[in-house]
Amino acid sequence: MKLLKNLYKSVGIDLGTTNFLVYLKNRGIVVDEPTLVAINNRTNQVLAIGEEAKKMLDRTPAHVRLVKPLSGGVISDFEVTEEIIKYFLRKISEKSLFSRFHVAAVSIPTNLTEVERKSVEDAVLSAGATKVLLVEEPIASAVGTRLPIEEATANMIVDIGGGTTEISIISVGGAVVSKSIKIAGNKFNEDIIRFIKNEYKLLIGEPTAENLKINVGSAIPIEDKLEMKVRGRDMSTGLPKEITVRDIQIRSAMQKSIKSIGETVKNILEESPPELVGDVLERGIFLSGGGALLRGMDKFLEKETQVDVTVVDDPLTCVVRGLGIIIEDIPRYETILSNQEKPKPINL
Ligand SMILES: Nc1ncnc2c1ncn2[C@@H]1O[C@H](COP(=O)(O)OP(=O)(O)O)[C@@H](O)[C@H]1O
Ligand SMILES: [Mg+2]
Repeated sequence: MKLLKNLYKSVGIDLGTTNFLVYLKNRGIVVDEPTLVAINNRTNQVLAIGEEAKKMLDRTPAHVRLVKPLSGGVISDFEVTEEIIKYFLRKISEKSLFSRFHVAAVSIPTNLTEVERKSVEDAVLSAGATKVLLVEEPIASAVGTRLPIEEATANMIVDIGGGTTEISIISVGGAVVSKSIKIAGNKFNEDIIRFIKNEYKLLIGEPTAENLKINVGSAIPIEDKLEMKVRGRDMSTGLPKEITVRDIQIRSAMQKSIKSIGETVKNILEESPPELVGDVLERGIFLSGGGALLRGMDKFLEKETQVDVTVVDDPLTCVVRGLGIIIEDIPRYETILSNQEKPKPINL
């Protein structure tokens, strides 16, 4: 058994709605690719996964469809998810001597049902892991941020990913309050596409909207005046056209979505047990996920909630790095994650 343990390696898997990351024990992050699959409509065969599938975005022939199987934060397409996990784990094992994995620590949203938890576990087992440790996403984030998760002090984590924003208060190794809303990075992109369509009668694709968000987007007014030229298809002539878009426009396009994230965080603080809120006021809110990188998102949330907001280090890899820390010391975290008396969770 000991020999097997040495031969098999442990992995940490972040099944994000937008990005799929894998941490391999003693190695670090070995996979960081989009959670995207290209499927042939005629045969239902998987054509490409991850980066390869992304290359097809916006250039897909009619018989190919692109699937984001985790779009809503839950596994909406179980079989495709299983394919993705298998594909990436196979890719890692091809480069080494082993073909199976010892423990796989997998991050999951806090609102999964028992059946959904089981389905994630089964997918990972069938992809070659001998044992699965499910870790609630905010816990993985907190470990990645080196917060003291086993203590009875509450910490609030707001993770703005692609498909969902997960707001949680964690204590003693578990989420005690949690809420998931479907307003996050993808919604910001949709807001931008709609704005450009209404304002300029111009059609742009999602990659262009994403570039606008990252390059000129912000949650609050900023000092530098940013602008960017983008190309799209003019709806009246059908021809390509170039326009210049400014930060103020992108901000106003995303304003409603950003505001509702702020309001949800505020409501949770108002509705949570006072002793938890007391800790949060003292320690501040930790902001993770790709959405934490939006300019001024931290300042915006600070203004809305009157609580200090800290953006975690490298918000896009925080969860998988947390899983990495967990698999480097499984005995310790297994106890923290499963055996302790945990307060009953509240889903607000
Ligand atoms: N610099 C940035 N500014 C704003 N949004 C960003 C930035 N970088 C990444 N994002 C957004 O973050 C989201 C992905 O975040 P991630 O935490 O990987 O999501 P998930 O965990 O759901 O896969 C995408 O919507 C992406 O557009
Ligand atoms: Mg995530």
